[in-house]
Amino acid sequence: MSAQTHIPRMTAPKITARKGGEPIVCLTAYDAPTAAILDEHCDLILVGDSVGMVVHGLTTTVGVTLDMMIMHGQAVMRGSNTALVVVDLPFGSYEDSVETAFKSASRVMMETGCQAVKIESGSYAAETISYLVERGIPVMSHVGLRPQSMNVLGGFRARGRKQEVADEIVENAIAAAEAGSFAVVVEGTSVEIAEKATKAVDIPTIGIGASAGCDGQILVTPDMLGQFDRVPKFVKKFADMKGLIEGAAKDYAAQVKDRSFPGEANTYKFTKK
Ligand code: KIV
Repeated sequence: MSAQTHIPRMTAPKITARKGGEPIVCLTAYDAPTAAILDEHCDLILVGDSVGMVVHGLTTTVGVTLDMMIMHGQAVMRGSNTALVVVDLPFGSYEDSVETAFKSASRVMMETGCQAVKIESGSYAAETISYLVERGIPVMSHVGLRPQSMNVLGGFRARGRKQEVADEIVENAIAAAEAGSFAVVVEGTSVEIAEKATKAVDIPTIGIGASAGCDGQILVTPDMLGQFDRVPKFVKKFADMKGLIEGAAKDYAAQVKDRSFPGEANTYKFTKK
């Protein structure tokens, strides 16, 4: 019998302990095979509500439901073994009361087996964060550009380039940290504000469209894989997934049409025995 080394999953407290240390590597995933590939390279995998836009073809994240998040969370948990898996609480599932937030978050944790949830945290969120954390649910917060509020903000543009908004972003990060978040995503703001927020809190900041000075980075995986033509300025395409899929689909179509596929290697021979 061969001895298998079991590498335990990353935990929320271990992520918090990385403040100011080795940068924390995070990506999003929504399905088991992708999670299995990302797992060994990521400290944290986020099942983001970006799933609504990059998988389901919605124009915003507002239409994403708790059931969708749970289904994708289950898939990511099946595919991963070592990364901390965090599942987004979608719009409408946590804002109106701490009780609603607990019901949604506990359902997500119990039905997926994930280790934490993320909420987009404006100034209203501190009470919710401490309520969840006190009841055993690690919370990652999300400040700056908050996609669930895009109808109020007027779009997906970067925030925090004006003093008023900049102060609000840093204040929201501080409030999220003081309420007990184990980490905070800082999205779509200036380098200066992201760095100010990073200095102001004792939990890791995870930047997206923010600054290399954050304690970690996250990107939406289909964006960084190059699956879409149009991506925000802050996304670097690390691959050309769209080109790969297009090339493969074109070759497949040509080979089906000229009957070179399926070839001998892809077919079964009838045997009498
Ligand atoms: O939903 C998501 O993918 C996110 C990341 C952009 C941080 O919240």
